[in-house]
Amino acid sequence: MAEFQPLVFSGVQPTGNLHLGNYLGAIRKFVALQDEHDCIYCVVDLHALTAQLVHEDMKGQIRSIAAAFIASGIDPKKHIVFNQSAVPQHAELAWIFNCVARIGWMNRMTQFKDKAGKDRENASLGLFAYPSLMAADILVYRATHVPVGDDQKQHLELTRDIAQKFNIDFSEHIRRTGLGVDIVVGEEPVHAYFPPVEPLIGGPAPRVMSLRDGTKKMSKSDASDLSRINLMDDADAISKKFRKAKTDPDALPGETEGLAGRPEADNLVGIYAALSDRTKADVLAEFGGQQFSVFKPALIDLAVATLSPITAEMRRLMDDTRHIDAILRDGAERAGARAEKTMNEVRDIVGFLR
Ligand code: TRP
Repeated sequence: MAEFQPLVFSGVQPTGNLHLGNYLGAIRKFVALQDEHDCIYCVVDLHALTAQLVHEDMKGQIRSIAAAFIASGIDPKKHIVFNQSAVPQHAELAWIFNCVARIGWMNRMTQFKDKAGKDRENASLGLFAYPSLMAADILVYRATHVPVGDDQKQHLELTRDIAQKFNIDFSEHIRRTGLGVDIVVGEEPVHAYFPPVEPLIGGPAPRVMSLRDGTKKMSKSDASDLSRINLMDDADAISKKFRKAKTDPDALPGETEGLAGRPEADNLVGIYAALSDRTKADVLAEFGGQQFSVFKPALIDLAVATLSPITAEMRRLMDDTRHIDAILRDGAERAGARAEKTMNEVRDIVGFLR
C-alpha cells in the first residue's frame, strides 16, 4: 500500500498586524515543524480580498507576514515561503473545487455566517467560496498536514470532504490515468488522487486571550490596542500593555486547578509558559503564592527578551524590500513548479484537452 508524501502547508492572511496570539498559536508551530517536515508557508493574499476589497498597503502587509515568518526562524531556502497570488494554480484548482463542493456545505460554515453577518445577500461570492480556495491552497500541493488554530477545524473538514468527493467522482478517470495512490481511510481501501488532510491543532499556546478580557481571543480587530501585543511593539509598549493587563486581586495559585474561573490569570500564566517552553504547572510551581506585582515584571522581561530579537529582525527585513521580494519570488517559483505538476494531472483527470 502506497502513501502520500508527508507535506506541511499553512497560510496566513495579510490583513492587520500580527500579534502574540498569531506568534504563539501559529508561527511558532510552523517553526517547530520545519525540522522534521517539508513545509510550505503561504501569505494568502487572494483570501485577503474577502475581508476587504481595497487595501491601503497590501504589498506592505504581504511583506510583513513573510518577514514575521523568517524573523521567527522559518528557513525560506529549505522550505517555501511565498504569496498565494504569485502561483495562479491555486485559483485554477479553486474553480474546479467550486464545482465539486456543494452550496449546502458552504452554507454550514460558521466563519461565513459570522463574517457575513445579518446581510448575507450582500456578502461577496468570494467570502462564500473562501473554504474552496483554502482547500485548493492545500491540495494543489497534495499536502497532508495543516497547522491551524481551532477556528479553522471546520474548514479543514470541508477540505477533506472536497478531496473525498473529487476522489470518488473522478475515480474511474484517476484509475485510467494511473495517478492515484492506494490508501486506507478509516477501514476503507481507497484509490485517491488527493490525500486526506490532517489538521495539526494545538501547540505552545493554542488560544491566547485578550489582555483586557480573558474570555475573548486576542484579535487584530479588537478596538483596543491594549488588548494585544503586536509583533512590531517595542519594549515600552509590551511593558505598558502587560502592566495594564486585566487581572484579579488574588495571588497566583500553586497548581493549575486554581486557575479555573480566573481567565485573566490563566491567560497570563499560559503566555509565560508558552514563551518559556514550560508547562503552566511548572510556571505555577515557581510563582504560586506570588502577587501579580511580582509575576507581571517577570512576564514583561520574558516577553521583551523573546520578542525583541524577532521584532528587530522583522524591521530589518521590512526595510530591505528588494531582499524580501526576492525571497518571495524564489518561493513562488518553487511552489509554482510543484503546483503546476498537480494541475497538469488534475487537468488530465478532469478531461481537459492540453
Ligand atoms: N483560513 C486561514 C485563517 O484564516 C488562512 C488560510 C488560507 C489557510 N488558506 C489556508 C490556513 C490553507 C491553512 C491552510 O487562518
